[in-house]
Amino acid sequence: MKRNHSNIKKAKKYLDNNNCIAVPTETVYGLAANAYSKKATSKIFKLKKRPKKNPLIVHYCNLNMLKKDCELNNDFFKLYEKLCPGPITFVLKLKKDSKICKNVTNNKKTLAVRFPNHPITKKLLTIINYPLAAPSANISTKISPVSKEDVIDEFGKKIKFILDGGRSHVGLESTIINLIGRPKVLRLGGIEISKINKILRTNLKFNNNLKKIISPGQGKIHYSPGIPIRLNVKKSKIDEAFILIQKRKKSAKNFYYLSKNKNLKEAAKNLYKTLRMIRKKKFKSISVEKIPNKGFGQAINDRLIRASKF
Ligand code: TXA
Ligand code: MG
Repeated sequence: MKRNHSNIKKAKKYLDNNNCIAVPTETVYGLAANAYSKKATSKIFKLKKRPKKNPLIVHYCNLNMLKKDCELNNDFFKLYEKLCPGPITFVLKLKKDSKICKNVTNNKKTLAVRFPNHPITKKLLTIINYPLAAPSANISTKISPVSKEDVIDEFGKKIKFILDGGRSHVGLESTIINLIGRPKVLRLGGIEISKINKILRTNLKFNNNLKKIISPGQGKIHYSPGIPIRLNVKKSKIDEAFILIQKRKKSAKNFYYLSKNKNLKEAAKNLYKTLRMIRKKKFKSISVEKIPNKGFGQAINDRLIRASKF
């Protein structure tokens, strides 16, 4: 993909002037603002309609910048070396003299940080002299955007500028791991847990009892297409969209393939795009074929379960 330097400069200008803009990342598009500025970051919460108590991930381009804000430990260095830049977010101890503003962390002593792997946003991060706070660029609880068009779909004219970086190739948010004390996976995402376990020589699991999440009040409503979703379905109803991961002999108008050969990475990439597409049609509900609960399938199931609590 060609880097559009004039657009990157334009993005810098908006950010320098305390605006929030949308930026591409390999996972999903982010709604970005100067993480050191209260004025800038408060615009993120307003535009996203995000509860103030929900802290933001901060995006960096190098370790020197990060060292000013966080305490780094051995587990961090091991994962950083093998996986960054990439779709993984680390929760670290915030340094006392960090300039990260308090509404980014919700006044807490921890910070979620990430090194995005997208050429355009990497370039942008090298020409600004502050890190970027950026949650996914969607209205709170709605489907995350994986293209410029999706961001427009979410915010319309309310967003001042979108830096176009094409389609996000991972298509799911980053995996979040808390590295304060014993490592703990907080969110499944673009890096499989098995990869993390190999690097740290551990056996971390995602403590996400799926049944628990289904029960009222347990799971957060999220990634919602606004209509009911049924999981592990063999045969869909006529007025339902049917999400599939392997080719069926017969075809039908309500079929939406995430993959035609059970490729779970491909399926993850296509998930949000597909949910967004279905939302625009007049289906009453969505049914989803059983998706193996391993590797990226685990992350897909996690998102679908949350999405099903619309
Ligand atoms: O792939 C991604 O991570 C994307 C791109 C834009 O980087 N960002 C993203 O941000 O997904 P967001 O805000 O939609 O999700 C971040 C999650 C939230 O659930 C938030 O509660 C959690 O990370 N989080 C942020 N700071 C945290 C912290 N200090 N400790 C624990 N969780 C934190
Ligand atoms: Mg989000």
